[in-house]
Amino acid sequence: MEHIDLKKIHENAELLGKTVTVCGWVRTSRDSKNVAFAEINDGSELEHVQIVFDKNKFDEQKLAPMLNLGAAIKVVGTVERGMKEESREIRATDVVLLGASDGSYPLQKKRHTMEFLRTIPHLRVRTNTFNAVFRVRSELSYAIHEFSHKNGYYYVHSPIITGSDCEGAGEVFKVTTIGYDPTVKSEDEYYKKDFFGRSAGLTVSGQLEGEVMATALGKIYTFGPTFRAENSNTPRHAAEFWQVEPEVAFADIDDIIGIATDMIKSIVSHLLTHCAPELKFFDERFENGLIAKLRNVAESDFARIDYVDAIEVLKKSGKQFVYPVEWGLDLQTEHERYLTDEYFKKPVFVVNYPRKIKSFYMKQNPDGKTVAATDLLVPGVGEIIGCSEREADYDKLLAEIQSRGMKLSDYANYLDLRKFGSVPHSGFGLGLERMLMYVTGMTNIRDVVEFARTKDDLK
Ligand code: 4AD
Ligand code: MG
Repeated sequence: MEHIDLKKIHENAELLGKTVTVCGWVRTSRDSKNVAFAEINDGSELEHVQIVFDKNKFDEQKLAPMLNLGAAIKVVGTVERGMKEESREIRATDVVLLGASDGSYPLQKKRHTMEFLRTIPHLRVRTNTFNAVFRVRSELSYAIHEFSHKNGYYYVHSPIITGSDCEGAGEVFKVTTIGYDPTVKSEDEYYKKDFFGRSAGLTVSGQLEGEVMATALGKIYTFGPTFRAENSNTPRHAAEFWQVEPEVAFADIDDIIGIATDMIKSIVSHLLTHCAPELKFFDERFENGLIAKLRNVAESDFARIDYVDAIEVLKKSGKQFVYPVEWGLDLQTEHERYLTDEYFKKPVFVVNYPRKIKSFYMKQNPDGKTVAATDLLVPGVGEIIGCSEREADYDKLLAEIQSRGMKLSDYANYLDLRKFGSVPHSGFGLGLERMLMYVTGMTNIRDVVEFARTKDDLK
């Protein structure tokens, strides 16, 4: 269909005075005696373009449906200067109704709550807020690929269906093609009859396959959906979320912390340049100071603290936490929030966690009690990255798998990597939605995924 993106009207000064054809959905409209106005948006940018209809040139009946909110129209008209020097509007000479809309369109003029908008995931992207969120999501994904490509990482695709639980947390969604069968006597018998002849699930992380690829290609990253049947209904957990997982051979924990820092800084800088109108919008509407915060992230160093010292900081905080603070216990959201929002007031890597509370694959430190693992915590959101050097020693890894009661046969190939040319290697997983929450100021993960999958909710 012949037309130009509305964005071009603002970008291209030469279009002033020219005749153009544009398309879009009506976001607001006003009708007066001699002239009617419709602000339309086509998704190419945050700003709308105002269409001016001289009523003496249009049949009133033909014009009326063009002013309905949500209607899709195609307009031919002349580009004119708007109220401000740099603003533009289009004086219509012709208009076609592409798709009608009526008073039952849910996005009428008033400002809607986020809760209400979650009930209409198929329409909410037509609001300024979600239009901006998903433009930033797209640009963020691009920035991740750009950073990775520039720095020599290969993009690899890890499987969605898997036979092992990478995190060992028992949060795997089962993949099965057979239903309830009362004649089946045991789990073993059930799985033997099933599609793969064994149990299978949706991946919680592409890491294990990522390690395979890194021990041949050197530097790789996976970037795709991961799934967790976490029974927690929180603003930060989704059952389906995207992870970027770089995996790097010949890299220790300090190297990977450096790489994670560079990636975060690079993608934040990219967004500051390429999503300026969206970030300004979020700064005004959702998180005052957002842009200053992001500039700070791009320009200054992140903090780093040992887990053991973080425990001391929390103990000395004078705060009454709901969950206990003790060496050996995992940090809860309230603890993470104190460290990021009150103590450091910037992103912080908490390093060297107790071995017992972390995953089986992490490199054991010489003290025998801790692992070379770190979480990157950020103000307002908490953990956005889970990161570690991997255990490269065959015997240690085997013992860890056995002591955790994991099924050895599921990890035979993974163990092989430690048998043949094992090297120090490290990686991390950055949660795309958590990162998106951090850069937009959205406080609920349901508002950075168009079709959020969370406990008891699938629309
Ligand atoms: O810390 P996690 O569990 O680490 C891993 O999965 C590693 N295998 C990654 C690796 O080293 N390759 O998850 C990584 C990140 C978290 O820091 C968080 O940002 C995000 O994934 N995440 C979730 N995001 C939304 N909803 C959930 N339920 C999430 N669980 C983890
Ligand atoms: Mg984690």
